[in-house]
Amino acid sequence: MLVKRRAFLKGFVGLAGLTAISSLFEQRLLAQSNLVEGIAVDMPLRERAAKSGLIYGAATGWEQLHDSPFAAQFAKECGILVPESELKWLAVRPKPDAFNFTGPDWLMQFAISNNMLFRGHTLVWHEALPAWFQSTVNSSNAEATLKKHISTVVGHYAGKMHSWDVVNEVILPWNNQPDGLRNSPWLKLLGPGYIDLAFREAAKADPKALLVLNQDRIENDTAADDQCRAATLALLQRLKSSGTPVHALGIESHLGLDAGIFNAEKFKSFLRDVASLGLKIMITELDVTDQDLPADISTRDSIIAGKYEEFLSVVIEEPSVIAVLTWGLSDKYSWLADERPRTDGTPVRSLPLDMNLQRKLAWTALAQAFDKVAAGPAPPQDLRVL
Ligand code: G3I
Repeated sequence: MLVKRRAFLKGFVGLAGLTAISSLFEQRLLAQSNLVEGIAVDMPLRERAAKSGLIYGAATGWEQLHDSPFAAQFAKECGILVPESELKWLAVRPKPDAFNFTGPDWLMQFAISNNMLFRGHTLVWHEALPAWFQSTVNSSNAEATLKKHISTVVGHYAGKMHSWDVVNEVILPWNNQPDGLRNSPWLKLLGPGYIDLAFREAAKADPKALLVLNQDRIENDTAADDQCRAATLALLQRLKSSGTPVHALGIESHLGLDAGIFNAEKFKSFLRDVASLGLKIMITELDVTDQDLPADISTRDSIIAGKYEEFLSVVIEEPSVIAVLTWGLSDKYSWLADERPRTDGTPVRSLPLDMNLQRKLAWTALAQAFDKVAAGPAPPQDLRVL
């Protein structure tokens, strides 16, 4: 069944075929999920993940969590919260000498009140920089500005953070920079050493937090992603060999559905290479773009869930993977609705819950992945406990 489902991902079979698969997919997944001893069919994702030694959660924001029905589902399903925007420079640093922690403090309190972990995103990125940045930061004050940002923001949450995305999307080989680095404002201002500097400052400010290099474009079987994986691995090797305190790789995992885009063996081997550096791995921003899928909802849901299952079946086999986060919990709040809207204008269906906060096949695929780990042999060593 699994092989059949993957086959249609390569080139969509007719609508009738997909509809048949979607109902069979749903029956099979639901049947399997209650086959695992002691796991009730409706057990929330956070509990299923915990049973497998993993952490499940999602990105969200202050505004979203003031939608009470959504907040209730978030608290029910998620064991970790990452602010989608509230800890980016644009939100947290309105002026060079002013920090605004109101939003992230409220989100951290929500997490604590709901017995969730809290993670930070992101300390160094080329996007979401405040308007004053370009006119204020220059090569003579950039190091002090970055150090002040990290020590203040990480220091503010010291001891309370599960992990930080210290640097975000730093690899972009076709920028033709050393180490395949993105030609970001930070590289221009400080050179490649800005990455080491960021990790060292974060480790100083919070020795307890897991420090993550978060990267996109490393999931697929394309020439571009091959280049990004190679450059990411080389960078991690360099950081580790120079004693820079990087602890984990974050794999964003914004997945697409182009035919033949995923190679399980290649991705498995990449995860193994990262793990062999002594690093943990987090799936940090998982979702599936459904821009060009057929309009039929059960077909779309089945194809999307099949993609979740295909990807997660590789991820959960790697013992160094410690967490899976989706970039949003419900289609009601997905960046994809704005950035990658469906060509037919209907709401995207990329996340575990739909617009009405109902669980979908994508939720079932996540549940099944966690159940499979819970039912399987214990990982060779207890890599999943931080
Ligand atoms: O908060 C303002 C609001 O006051 C204003 O009225 C509105 C007008 O457009 O903009 C709001 O800010 C938006 C912000 O999200 C908060 O909603 C920004 O315009 C918008 O650009 C920003 O987009 C976010 C984007 O990162 C840039 O920060 C997306 O929501 C967020 O999903 C996306 O997330 C990124 C990760 O950080 C890194 N990996 C890729 C991922 C997707 O792009």
